Amino acid sequence: MPRTCLTTPIYYVNDKPHIGHAYTSLAADVLARWKRLSGHEVFFLTGTDEHGQKVEKAARDAGEEPQAFTDRVSQAFRDLTATMGFSNDAFIRTTEPRHRHACQELWRRLAARGEIYLGGYEGWYAVRDEAFYGPDELTERDGVRYAPSGAPVEWVTEPSYFFRLSAWQERLLEFYEANPGFIAPASRRNEVIAFVKAGLQDLSISRTSFRWGVPVPGDDAHVMYVWLDALTNYITALGWPEEGEAWRFWPADVHFVGKDILRFHAIYWPAFLMAAGLEPPRRVFAHGWWTNEGQKISKSLGNVIDPVELVERFGLDPVRYFLLREVPFGQDGDFSRAGLVNRTNGELADVLGNLANRTLTLIAKNLDGRLPAPAAPGRALGEALSGLPARVGAHLDAQEFHLALEAIFAAARAANVDITEQAPWALRKTDPARMAVVLRQLHDALRVLGTVLQPFMPGTMALMLDQLGVPAGARHLGALDAPLPEGHPIGTPAPLFRKVEA
Ligand code: ME8
Ligand code: MG
Repeated sequence: MPRTCLTTPIYYVNDKPHIGHAYTSLAADVLARWKRLSGHEVFFLTGTDEHGQKVEKAARDAGEEPQAFTDRVSQAFRDLTATMGFSNDAFIRTTEPRHRHACQELWRRLAARGEIYLGGYEGWYAVRDEAFYGPDELTERDGVRYAPSGAPVEWVTEPSYFFRLSAWQERLLEFYEANPGFIAPASRRNEVIAFVKAGLQDLSISRTSFRWGVPVPGDDAHVMYVWLDALTNYITALGWPEEGEAWRFWPADVHFVGKDILRFHAIYWPAFLMAAGLEPPRRVFAHGWWTNEGQKISKSLGNVIDPVELVERFGLDPVRYFLLREVPFGQDGDFSRAGLVNRTNGELADVLGNLANRTLTLIAKNLDGRLPAPAAPGRALGEALSGLPARVGAHLDAQEFHLALEAIFAAARAANVDITEQAPWALRKTDPARMAVVLRQLHDALRVLGTVLQPFMPGTMALMLDQLGVPAGARHLGALDAPLPEGHPIGTPAPLFRKVEA
């Protein structure tokens, strides 16, 4: 069986989840579900990043012990996977003992291979990003220096272990060259290559000024830099270093990340892995940034979008659909409620819901709820449907979620044109045989649409396939080649999407 391993970032537990976290995991979920429908064995991983100064500070501000605090906030991210209908196979927390074990073993291997040395760090650090910055990257306002992300930086002087990142510059460039699909989208790839070409400094990988982290093996005065700790989650979760049953899923096929953390995944992570003698992941996809009604999403502006509230208000599947349909994956996008309402009403309800309801009601009323004999679709509909699963698959393999949905909805629109032009309701009296043919063509079209849309809208498409009478075992992509037999009963038609008010 082919295998696919997909990951999301592990999210900081400094605060409760928002729409940005839901978005990255949603993309990974849709691809995971698609791969399962295509017959792959899938390992889909998400989780929480719980160490470091930022989380320690958030716990202190909340007046809680770090472990109790992270237990509580991590649970909110776990709950989000249920709210959003994510199908993750595992959920990792970096405070788990197995993860401490993996981090320390990775450290030992790097040390044994001469990749680590003890020195002192003197420079700028942004706690909000948990990142070191060079002086040339900063801007100054009112006596405070800021990183390009907008995070304030502070001056740090402390003893530190270093990873010999500078020695990996050429090997990283060769790796990018040999693996053109490693960084996506392409514009991001060019950015990373330019950054590496400009020269890499050795990387500080331990801290001594606080305690909330994985202790460095053999030197308890240091805890590991939280990014070395965090990135290691991807292999901990697969059972490394014991390399048990799940290890066969490594290397990961796609690490889904936001553009804010591309540098860590596309530069540090493959360097750490290669330095430890492990295989780097196959691909890192960095998607864009959501704003809210044109504004940067931030706690201080009070405009954080709560996915739980959104799902309660609009329903899960419209939210899932909207997030991946509205903005090309990889580009920045603006979240607007008007946009969500328009897509729900204009596309889900008016195009797909209407098509399904008209077709199924006519079959129920006029054909006693039984399918007529299979019939090839007319030319326009045939063209829209032909090879649709293959086209959707190709778009999803390139993480072009919006193009996959565009192709699916082009077919749904073609079917809607078809039903309007052929008017099966009028054929009932004039040409019942022709009516049966048309309804069968539309039913077949709906079956294809329902099958390929399952990863995007699993709950609603399960209902639609129930109404279509598609047996549970025949909802995967391979089943589409076998038509349902003549006389097969459909289920009970009922509206699939409710319209929402602006
Ligand atoms: O960076 N638009 O965790 P984090 C789109 N723990 N995506 C957004 C977003 C927005 N406005 N805001 C957040 C960390 N995201 C580290 C990761 S991985 C080994 C360690 C998403 O809680 C996006 O995926 O700050 C971004 O990369 C991630 O949340 C950052 O989550
Ligand atoms: Mg962040």
